[in-house]
Amino acid sequence: MDLQTLVEPDRVHRRVYTDAEIFEREMTHIFERVWVYCGHETQVPNPGDYYTVRIGRQPMVMVRDRDGEIRVLHNRCPHRGVQLCGNTHGNTGRSFVCSYHAWSFHLDGSLKTIPLGAEAYRGTRMNKSNPDCRMKPAARVASYRGFVFASLAADGPSLGDFLGEAKVAFDDMCDRSPEGKVTVVPVCHRVIQHSNWKFFMENQLDALHPSVTHQSTGVAATRVEKRVIEEQGSAPLYYHMLSTFASSFEQWDQVQTLNFPHGHGILKAYMGLRPQDPDTRAYEALLVKAYGRKRTEEYLSRSIHHVLVYPYLSVQSPLQQLRCLRPLGPDRTLSEIWHFRLDGAPEAIYRRSLWYYNLVNSPATMINADDLENWTKGQWGLESDGGDWVSFHRHFGTDRREGDIVTSTKGTSEVVMRNQFDAWMQYMTRD
Ligand code: FES
Ligand SMILES: [Fe+2]
Repeated sequence: MDLQTLVEPDRVHRRVYTDAEIFEREMTHIFERVWVYCGHETQVPNPGDYYTVRIGRQPMVMVRDRDGEIRVLHNRCPHRGVQLCGNTHGNTGRSFVCSYHAWSFHLDGSLKTIPLGAEAYRGTRMNKSNPDCRMKPAARVASYRGFVFASLAADGPSLGDFLGEAKVAFDDMCDRSPEGKVTVVPVCHRVIQHSNWKFFMENQLDALHPSVTHQSTGVAATRVEKRVIEEQGSAPLYYHMLSTFASSFEQWDQVQTLNFPHGHGILKAYMGLRPQDPDTRAYEALLVKAYGRKRTEEYLSRSIHHVLVYPYLSVQSPLQQLRCLRPLGPDRTLSEIWHFRLDGAPEAIYRRSLWYYNLVNSPATMINADDLENWTKGQWGLESDGGDWVSFHRHFGTDRREGDIVTSTKGTSEVVMRNQFDAWMQYMTRD
């Protein structure tokens, strides 16, 4: 497969979104090697708590063991391969027990018992010291500020080196808590997108599309917001969450993207999230008490709307949202949409996160639904013979590199996609 002929600096061939062989290579060369987000440690607070999760093509289970450590194991019985956890999440008690022949495993994945073991397996290679008798662990597990990641590759950059500048996603979310940490809201939306995973990643920092795709919602929300302000003097923040989508192209051009190595990126802030209402003032006072005025100001003035951890995560840290992709096939992608509470922050501040979750990120909103429709139609177009190339020419030639960061003079530049494909090629062409 000659990948060089499919990816050019300003355009890519449609096959990279549709081809089954390329998808397999993305699994083996990208998703099954990089650090993949498994979940937040508060999803599994007690020993035996588990969450199943997909890393590349591999069904895995994240579990808290009896010593409090979080393990990530293949969800597969070493006897004859049956999946051990059939539910998405739960508590497995003191061990995993296979539903087929009752082999059991400690919470760290090591073998506990085999029925009839001593007699039936005497003289065979199947015994407790044989690693083939345990649930296979992920090669590496690490966490950053409570966010747990695993890599199926024994070698490669550390989690910190992989995240690089994108680490700020987790710092920004946690630093907004007076206690420096967050707790997951233990339900998420799970949506199957009928499109290649790259559509979502490209869309997240595509600052031109909101005022087109989300125009109907943005314009309607702007009208209502105006009327509420006229009648009541001010409008709740949730109107603003929708009305900002109606910003003009010129306004979007002022919203910079920062593009980093490994394909990560940041869309800078464009929403006013610091209204001067009593709730916000009370919350900011808590932060000042915890961190002092200078650090509070530093934390609250980071210019972030989304942080992308390429190739699968979009974190909206100022509103405690996290969306994670689990690719299922060239044209099918599972997305998980989570949100978090800031530990120690007032309930009213959590409500904001919930509004945004329900108004913008839920698949039932007019925002996410309009994006989903674009990506499905995009996939249909790329599967057709109507043309071979996907264009990333918008503001091509204006990209500026300063050290590791690539920016463009215009916020709506497709420098985002160009940077993502740089990373993609690096991953895909290595051994
Ligand atoms: S397949 Fe699991 S115990 Fe037999
Ligand atoms: Fe969108």
